[in-house]
Amino acid sequence: MNPRLVFWVPAVLRLGLVAGAAGIVWWMAGAVTALAFALVIVVTLLVVQLNYLHKLGEWLNDPKSGKLPDGWGAWTDVFARLYRLRRDDERNRDDLTEWLARFRQAMHLLPEGVAIMDDVLFLEWCNPAAERHLGLTLERDKGRRVTNLIRHPEFIDYVILGRYEQPLTLAIRGRKLVVQVIPFENRRQILVTHDATESDRIEAMRRDFIANASHELRTPLTVVVGFLEIALADPGLDAETRTAHLKLMTEQAQRMQRLIEDMLTLSRLESDEYPLKRERVDVHKLVEQVANDARALSNGRHQIEFEVDGPDLMGSAEELRSAFGNLATNAVRYTPAGGTIRLAWRRGPDDLRFEACDTGIGIDEQHISRLTERFYRVDKSRSRETQGTGLGLAIVKHVLLRHGGKLSIRSTPGKGSVFTASLPNTSLQG
Ligand SMILES: Nc1ncnc2c1ncn2[C@@H]1O[C@H](COP(=O)(O)OP(=O)(O)O)[C@@H](O)[C@H]1O
Ligand SMILES: [Mg+2]
Repeated sequence: MNPRLVFWVPAVLRLGLVAGAAGIVWWMAGAVTALAFALVIVVTLLVVQLNYLHKLGEWLNDPKSGKLPDGWGAWTDVFARLYRLRRDDERNRDDLTEWLARFRQAMHLLPEGVAIMDDVLFLEWCNPAAERHLGLTLERDKGRRVTNLIRHPEFIDYVILGRYEQPLTLAIRGRKLVVQVIPFENRRQILVTHDATESDRIEAMRRDFIANASHELRTPLTVVVGFLEIALADPGLDAETRTAHLKLMTEQAQRMQRLIEDMLTLSRLESDEYPLKRERVDVHKLVEQVANDARALSNGRHQIEFEVDGPDLMGSAEELRSAFGNLATNAVRYTPAGGTIRLAWRRGPDDLRFEACDTGIGIDEQHISRLTERFYRVDKSRSRETQGTGLGLAIVKHVLLRHGGKLSIRSTPGKGSVFTASLPNTSLQG
């Protein structure tokens, strides 16, 4: 219905009622009484209206304080509508607050830095990643000019010249940052920062790995190709030389084979497509096999002992065999003839550990932290002599990482080394 009618019809009816009642009084008690009667009623109505107006005024002073009275006549509707308005307003505000909180949290978790600046480059807001990347503190730096906060000539040029199509790469506080400005709302700009240090490091590692692997393969390949060329150039080579050449070629081919196998093992260990297969590992059998392999490699030149004093564990038998085997064969390779090698599986204070202890050449302190790097060797020629690929300890590290364990190395040059593969005790089940 028309709201105007809704308001005016009852109001006019009410006034009509008063007039009607006054008419009846007039008829019964004369004009003066009727006028007095009408006056009293009109004044009463006025007082009631004023009272509600006052209440409305009070409520408007502090709308949150309480409920409005139900009201009377047209006030009922006015109060009800006001009340609804306030409730909707509160709900909207709650929604907005919740949304803002969610947005803040998302911005907090974002690994990319986001900073909002106004048209004259004053900082308005930034997230924690931007604080970290750019060395800002929102509370302190809010309202300050970004070019005063990030005093980097390249950055200042970039921001002032306004060529924002391309991101800018900066070296800030030892990290590599990619920053880009995105204008928005025509008076504001967003500064987005991305920390590329880690991806750069991985890229460099990948490059190094390819360079090293190619280099490692090239050397034996050169030898093989050399002998093949000799054989082709001189078909009448005597049988003895020919056999010697074939033997050398076979050695080099086997070296390449070992290298490729280790590289494949490493890439499998790193790949998500080969998740760890956990099974119950019979550690006694495993250590015995490892010791036997070590004895075969040593060929009687070392005394090799093993001891199993710890429980079985859950893990990949194949991977653990490769890890423990690498530690054992290293012990053999880097221990001169006559030395002793002790392999042991035992409980540590809060872990289970495999120890490979030798009386070999030992390792200088400065090399220890780098031994698990791919192709890192203390003595390159010795490693080749002993058929090492330079990937053994990298494989050990990865296997342990996959099992939640770690490798620690103690060594005294000239006396010997202890390599300890520590595995979490939780891997023991049943
Ligand atoms: N038991 C050990 N005693 C002395 N040096 C060792 C021992 N184990 C490993 N190393 C050193 O660590 C380097 C890396 O080991 P590893 O990754 O297994 O490669 P490699 O194929 O050369 O054996 C070796 O080249 C060697 O210098
Ligand atoms: Mg090795």
